[in-house]
Amino acid sequence: MTREELIGINAGIVKTVSSNLIQHSPNVIIIVVSNPMDTMTYLVHKTTDLPKNRIIGMGGALDSARFKYRLAEAMDAPISDVDGMVIGGHSDTGMVPLTSHATRNSIKVSEFLSDDRLQQVAEDTKVGGATLTKLLGTSAWYAPGAAVSALVQAIACDQKKMFPCSTFLEGEYGLNDICIGVPVILGKNGIEQIVDIPLSDAEKAKMKESAEGVSKTNGLLEL
Ligand code: LAC
Repeated sequence: MTREELIGINAGIVKTVSSNLIQHSPNVIIIVVSNPMDTMTYLVHKTTDLPKNRIIGMGGALDSARFKYRLAEAMDAPISDVDGMVIGGHSDTGMVPLTSHATRNSIKVSEFLSDDRLQQVAEDTKVGGATLTKLLGTSAWYAPGAAVSALVQAIACDQKKMFPCSTFLEGEYGLNDICIGVPVILGKNGIEQIVDIPLSDAEKAKMKESAEGVSKTNGLLEL
C-alpha cells in the first residue's frame, strides 16, 4: 500500500470517528493519535466545528518520554533526574528535540554531554518509533497508551500540566494554518494555553523545516 493510500484510509476513519464523537458528545475533547498524527489533527480541525482547544494531537508527550530515556541513558542518570521536550512534527524527520532546554535537576544537559553525544541522543530520539516498530514487528502500543493516559489525566483532573502537543497555530512560532507539536498547558478545557518559548536559531530553522514537511503531507488531504 502506498503512503498516499494509507493516509486516505486513516483520514476516512478519523473523519467518521470524530463526527460520531461530536454527534453523541458535543462537548468532546478529541485526542488524535492516528498517523500521520499532525496531519490527522489538522483534518479534525478542518472538518469539524470543534474549537481548537478541544482538538489535541498526541505525539510530543511520547517523543519527549523517549528523549528523556535517551538522555538518562547517555548521562547514566535516573530518568526522574531528567527534564526535556520534543516539539515539531511527530515523524523521524520532523521532531525537534530541544537539547538546549533539557536539564538534569535544573542543570543544562550540555554540562554532562558533549555536542556529539547530544546530537546522537537527538537522532536516536527521532527514530524511536521506527526502532520500536522494527523490534516489535508492529507499532508501539505501551508508550503511546501511557502518553495518552497522561494527557487524559491532565484534562480530567484539571492539572494545568505542560506537554508538547499538536495544536492549530495562528502565528505562534511564526507558523499559521498548521497543527504541529508545541508546548501547551492542558486542563479541564483541553488546551488552555499555547506556550511560545524562545528557540535558538538552529531550533527555529528545524521547526520551519518540520512545518514544511507537515504542510506537504497536509496537501495530500482531500478537504
Ligand atoms: C510511535 C508511533 C506509533 O511513535 O507513532 O510509536
